[in-house]
Amino acid sequence: MALRLVALQVLVCYSVLADEAPIIALLQLQLDVQEVTHGAHEHEPPAGVCKTTFLEQDMTRPIEEIVAEQDDDGWCLFGSLGEWARQCAISRQRKTVRNFVDTWWPIYQDVLTRPEATRFTFRFPDGRSLTTRDHHSPLDDVDCFVNGWLALPRGQVVNNFTFLEEVSKAFCADLERSLPEYHRISINDLHLETQADNASFQELMKSSSTSGNLTASVIHGMRLHAASKCLLGGQGPGSPGVICDIANCAASTCLGPDGELLYAVLGECPDVRA
Ligand SMILES: *[C@@H]1O[C@H](CO)[C@@H](O)[C@H](O)[C@H]1NC(C)=O
Ligand SMILES: *[C@@H]1O[C@H](CO)[C@@H](O)[C@H](O)[C@H]1NC(C)=O
Ligand SMILES: *[C@@H]1O[C@H](CO)[C@@H](O)[C@H](O)[C@H]1NC(C)=O
Repeated sequence: MALRLVALQVLVCYSVLADEAPIIALLQLQLDVQEVTHGAHEHEPPAGVCKTTFLEQDMTRPIEEIVAEQDDDGWCLFGSLGEWARQCAISRQRKTVRNFVDTWWPIYQDVLTRPEATRFTFRFPDGRSLTTRDHHSPLDDVDCFVNGWLALPRGQVVNNFTFLEEVSKAFCADLERSLPEYHRISINDLHLETQADNASFQELMKSSSTSGNLTASVIHGMRLHAASKCLLGGQGPGSPGVICDIANCAASTCLGPDGELLYAVLGECPDVRA
């Protein structure tokens, strides 16, 4: 353990954190991992990044195992992967998700006011549908919907950390029971899932059509995505790990009539941030 600590401190080049990270998706992961393992800057890590970091081979090991071996939070352990991880680690330390949701707010603002922010409707195998205008990272909107986070009381989720942790624990306990591979999920699985689902979204949305059918594998992908976030929080099945994604959904969006997603940054649902 001590050896691991010493060996890793010098490996991380923290300058990679400055770039515009994706929202919930792991768009930067590949790039960051390369940078992380080649930098040689020996200085204090920024907030939200533990001094201990992961080894390259940890990417394919179960997240659960890696987090259990550490005293630190899994989010800060992987904090150098991008803002999605680092900002969540900060939120968990401060017990408020304000910094996390504020990180993505201007990105939503940018993405949703572009000319290409047209309506696109995803149809799910169970007959439900979701209309998004986020062509940049549709995964985030679908993630919020599939995991049921749009039905939560938005103000409580964003401003009451105790409530948010309770929601996360119940959600993660349920995933632990219903997702057979839960305990084996690695960061690499999260990465592969994100890429595959992203490819499905892009493929559907690039056609001139305004709607497309999502397959069961994408639904499963969203559940795996959420599970990996649960696992980063440690503490076994009832993990408070997925709080940041849940909070981002509640802060940024609400569900309108006919499965249309409405956006707080556009003033379509109230800004509930206290
Ligand atoms: C998603 O797909 C688009 C188009 O293929 C690509 O430009 C983008 O980099 C992909 N993002 C991820 C996370 O793979
Ligand atoms: C915050 O949530 C907790 C847990 O659900 C609840 O007991 C408490 O009353 C809530 N606090 C406020 C100010 O709403
Ligand atoms: C999408 O699903 C609907 C309803 O199940 C079906 O009618 C339609 O043909 C499907 N479209 C494609 C492109 O598969």
